[in-house]
Amino acid sequence: MQLTHLHIVNFKNIADTDLSFSPNINALLGDNGMGKSNLLDAIYYLSFCKSFSSLPDSGIVKSGEMFAMMQGDYLRKGVEEQVAFGYTSGKRKSFKRGGKEYTRLSQHIGLFPLVLVSPSDMDLVGGGSEVRRRFIDMLISQTDSTYLSHLIRYNNALQQRNKLLRDHIYDANLYIAVEMSMEMSAEYITKSRREISTRLLEAFKRHYHDIARTDETPGLEYRSLLNESTCRYSELLEEARRKDEILGHTTVGPHRDDLELTLEGMSVKSTASQGQSKTFTIALRLAQYEFMHEATGMKPLLLLDDIFDKLDSNRVANIVDIVSRDIFGQIFITDTNREHLASIVSTMPNVDYRLWSVSAGRFEEIKQ
Ligand SMILES: Nc1ncnc2c1ncn2[C@@H]1O[C@H](COP(=O)(O)OP(=O)(O)OP(=O)(O)O)[C@@H](O)[C@H]1O
Ligand SMILES: [Mg+2]
Repeated sequence: MQLTHLHIVNFKNIADTDLSFSPNINALLGDNGMGKSNLLDAIYYLSFCKSFSSLPDSGIVKSGEMFAMMQGDYLRKGVEEQVAFGYTSGKRKSFKRGGKEYTRLSQHIGLFPLVLVSPSDMDLVGGGSEVRRRFIDMLISQTDSTYLSHLIRYNNALQQRNKLLRDHIYDANLYIAVEMSMEMSAEYITKSRREISTRLLEAFKRHYHDIARTDETPGLEYRSLLNESTCRYSELLEEARRKDEILGHTTVGPHRDDLELTLEGMSVKSTASQGQSKTFTIALRLAQYEFMHEATGMKPLLLLDDIFDKLDSNRVANIVDIVSRDIFGQIFITDTNREHLASIVSTMPNVDYRLWSVSAGRFEEIKQ
């Protein structure tokens, strides 16, 4: 899949920009705070209907302005497609594919697959389990819409159960109804998470070795109480009711699952260096890319935001080597250092690329 053209008005610090992209490499070069990540965020927005910076829509409108809009032209499975977003302060946002407004935004997720590698991925290693659940949920949701509906259904039922617990409502029938609904979705969620973690492992290890070129063994294991228990989920919930009432929230279920990340059998969070952790997260994202490519039959857009930071020159060279292989489709890459970008394009003499210099939300193409 390709993003051929993007028109942005009032998105963060980008006032009005029209860009046509290369089908291969698109490089954005500029100093800190100039708008490189903002451009990637705009592209991300058109795939996920939200910003990767988790800002509410009011926060993505350029300060001092009342509205923001974006329009992306894509080549998807050989067909030209258009995705458009518009938001006016105080109003509902509009999101359209081919000029037709979506009734539910979740219908759009996964249609324009995208993988983002960003500095905040370090949270995958250092953050709480919710970051890793979001990683696996986003990945599966993009390739399986049934998963996304189960996730939404599970979360709604979970909120209802938590409300019963907080309001101290002791009606067993109400609990049974809500817990049955949680159980129906939990089974699908845990099964998918288990299968997909196993499928990610091979590509993840391969990419880790390709970047690090050491003998270190990285590990990735899905941990879920439901997998490890012989009881049904509804039994676990019933058993936990008294404790949950005291605590005011649900203590068992897929919302507590985790992905255990290890290096040489030890927790990455507590033992790995910054460069090792960064290598780990990039390898995870590249494994995600391969999985999504296989699952959707489309090469996702690959957004590489500031990926070289914290890596030594050998690892940088290895990443350049990996990214230059043609398993990846269209790439958008940002950096403050021209040498990194130059080395990427110089290793691919036959590859089409475009380079922009970014300054205060403006993009000026540097012609070669
Ligand atoms: N709603 C907004 N209105 C105007 N400016 C905004 C808005 N949101 C963010 N910005 C500005 O965008 C800039 C950050 O841009 P961005 O994150 O794209 O920088 P960058 O080029 O990626 O820098 P770095 O190399 O440090 O990652 C900041 O100066 C910030 O003030
Ligand atoms: Mg940035």
